[in-house]
Amino acid sequence: MISSFDVKDKALADQGQLRIEWAAQSMPVVREITERFAKEKPLKGLRIAACLHVTTETGYLMMALKAGGADVTICASNPLSTQDDVAAALVVHYDIPTFAIKGEDNKTYYSHIEAVLDTRDSKPMMTMDDGADLVTMLHQKRKNQLPEILGGTEETTTGVVRLQSMAKEGVLAYPIIAVNEALTKHLFDNRYGTGQSTIDGIIRATNRLLAGLNFVVAGYGWCGKGLAMRARGMGSRVIVTEINPLKALEAAMDGFEVLPMDKAASLGDIFCTVTGNKSVLRKEHFEKMKGGAILSNSGHFNVEIDIPALEGLSVKQRKIREFVAEYTMRDGRKINLLGEGRLINLAAAEGHPSSVMDLSFANQALSAEYMLINAKKLQKKVYDVPEEIDRRIAAMKLKHLDMTIDKLTPEQEKYMASWNEGT
Ligand code: NAI
Repeated sequence: MISSFDVKDKALADQGQLRIEWAAQSMPVVREITERFAKEKPLKGLRIAACLHVTTETGYLMMALKAGGADVTICASNPLSTQDDVAAALVVHYDIPTFAIKGEDNKTYYSHIEAVLDTRDSKPMMTMDDGADLVTMLHQKRKNQLPEILGGTEETTTGVVRLQSMAKEGVLAYPIIAVNEALTKHLFDNRYGTGQSTIDGIIRATNRLLAGLNFVVAGYGWCGKGLAMRARGMGSRVIVTEINPLKALEAAMDGFEVLPMDKAASLGDIFCTVTGNKSVLRKEHFEKMKGGAILSNSGHFNVEIDIPALEGLSVKQRKIREFVAEYTMRDGRKINLLGEGRLINLAAAEGHPSSVMDLSFANQALSAEYMLINAKKLQKKVYDVPEEIDRRIAAMKLKHLDMTIDKLTPEQEKYMASWNEGT
């Protein structure tokens, strides 16, 4: 067994292995890629440093990369999202240097990122990031390692936004494929995955009935759409807040009430931020909230709720349930914060269901393969996943769902390519 790792408890490894196997049953596309990788070894000799949520599905992705011949090391991309049994299984059963402990403090979190950049005799040649903390660490503190990096991939919206601003400033040192921008990623993972698993996290944390409650969704992007749809499905009255007029209009036409947070604050029973922005819920909102209000976040970083401001307003704090911190205000109102304001679907539940991560991680695996072949031709920019890969993944998923679709007839093909046929 490898000697370099930091996980909570190796004794959890068997349980983690079973849970990875369970997830794998719903990940036929990654399985198909793994089988091809095992035969062709397209990633042979590639050293990948991954900074991803350490969940069952990620465990299965790590195996796909290994099957392809890659040498992988992994750390958590969030201090509260690690599944400790999976981390143990990766070390004990799959020989993958893993640095991730659920609930690790910020110092340990960053020391784990440093660890994946230091593990093995040789340093990484590719990064696989979720939120861009790994890439940022390399650019800020490990500049000497940058020339060895061929390229990278990025999983989430917030990471893509950060990387695009690095590219714009001319500081990005290698090409990155934005896995998040694949249609087979954000149309499904961000919408249906975040939608369902965020509700799951809120329910597991609180055990509250959602029916009849006012549920405020901040942000009507891909995640917000999925969340609003599922909250409505649970019987909540859903209020959406936005800053983008187009998204606000879309939410209104989808049948949701659209309000500024200033107004929604006094109405909401449950709040969930999914904006990728900061201080979306802040002092002036906490002051207006009803007693008993529940605050949660499913955006990437724990800055969407201004927690220091909430602490500043409160006279007493206690942990009332495993993922619920109760803040008592001076006037006696109690406001409840879930999962320390970190993405609640991963903090209190298990993250996205495997069948949706099948699509996201198929993109990761095929993007790593594409990057290895094409890195030298690419500029130091953020690239979309090639459309051909996106379509291939959708076709594989349809095949595994046993669904067939129509093909263009020769007449239709000609018609779609011509301009001179009208009414
Ligand atoms: P998106 O860019 O599609 O949507 C974000 C929306 O928030 C936009 O419509 C924007 O106008 C709106 N917004 C920004 N500031 C706002 C404010 N102050 N008030 C109200 N609305 C505001 O992004 P997407 O894909 O929906 O992702 C949102 C966040 O969730 C990102 O941080 C992303 O990384 C994260 N994410 C989390 C996942 C999870 O498992 N919990 C999965 C996928 C993404």
